[in-house]
Amino acid sequence: MRIAITGVAGFVGSNLTERLLERGDTVRGIDDLSHGTLENLGPLIHHPSFRLDQGTILDPVALQTAFSGAEVVVHLAAGKIPRHGDALDTLLINGEGGLNVLRAVRECGVRRMILASTSDCYGRNPNVPFNEESPSVIGSPKVRRWSYAVSKMFEEQALFAFRERYGIEGVALRLFGGYGPRQNITWWGGPQSVFIGAALRGEALEVHGTGQQTRSFTYIDDMVEGFVRAIDTPAANGEVLNIGIDREITIENLARMISKMIRPNEEPNVRLIPYETFGRYEDVERRIPDGSRSEAILGFRAGVNLEEGLPRAIEWQRGTMQRLGLL
Ligand SMILES: NC(=O)c1ccc[n+]([C@@H]2O[C@H](COP(=O)([O-])OP(=O)(O)OC[C@H]3O[C@@H](n4cnc5c(N)ncnc54)[C@H](O)[C@@H]3O)[C@@H](O)[C@H]2O)c1
Repeated sequence: MRIAITGVAGFVGSNLTERLLERGDTVRGIDDLSHGTLENLGPLIHHPSFRLDQGTILDPVALQTAFSGAEVVVHLAAGKIPRHGDALDTLLINGEGGLNVLRAVRECGVRRMILASTSDCYGRNPNVPFNEESPSVIGSPKVRRWSYAVSKMFEEQALFAFRERYGIEGVALRLFGGYGPRQNITWWGGPQSVFIGAALRGEALEVHGTGQQTRSFTYIDDMVEGFVRAIDTPAANGEVLNIGIDREITIENLARMISKMIRPNEEPNVRLIPYETFGRYEDVERRIPDGSRSEAILGFRAGVNLEEGLPRAIEWQRGTMQRLGLL
């Protein structure tokens, strides 16, 4: 199959590309390398069935070139939750970029688009686990973290509007806390990347807020499996599907677990950082997916637990930080 991927040099994109090339697909990717790296793609760069365009999804011409001849587009390029800057990049990349991607999908005659959406769309809804019909409970417009959820919800709505009007097949996957090799090693990659880095360097693990907020961390192999099935399964057309493991852990316990894995003989050095440090912030207290709909439609449920996945993520990050001279 001929597949085009936006954000191909990122965490999900590079792992998904590897899997698709292994099974014989042709992959053409576009990435502006703002948060992904050529190193993530490694030897895949020279694979005869792979091609990388360095460009932005804010450029409609670049998208048309990248999508030409594709049967399926997987849209991964995104701005994430702005913790330290303003919300404009997130809104522009996901809003304007998302519409550009859909227009190019239509103009290039692409049959199906898979959108990487997020568990953040459930917002502050206190009723866990979340199924795909659970309401989105979004906080104050003055809190910039919600720009991410709102822009992803816009992309979901736009995907289904294009499906309705133009007959493009659409699938939105709501991803829950991915981790594993090739993840960005700064806060952009998520708390686990930051905790692993701090523990490897022997520094304090900085937990935002009380640390009692929970998340469900999903290993990259489970995420890639979700995308592959969303590409292949006809019945996924028109669906929003959770991709995530249904086990929650508090962020403080995640920090302790990582610390114990890296420094088994030391007491974890966890420091709580108040949210006020990065402006007005609202956190999500609990986040657990209900995986039954994705299991029914895609025939699969995420299953790699932290005890199995974290050591692999740690070893990859150790190697990467050593190579970059950070250890
Ligand atoms: N990883 C997770 O835990 C998670 C959770 C929920 C949702 N998601 C979503 O899944 C997708 C992939 O996430 P990821 O973790 O691989 O992120 P990532 O940041 O590692 O990868 C995204 C890639 O998109 C590229 N990119 C960003 N802006 C671009 C632009 N304007 N034009 C072209 N390329 C651009 C970046 O350089 C990067 O390589 C994103 O849409 C994200 O919102 C991820």
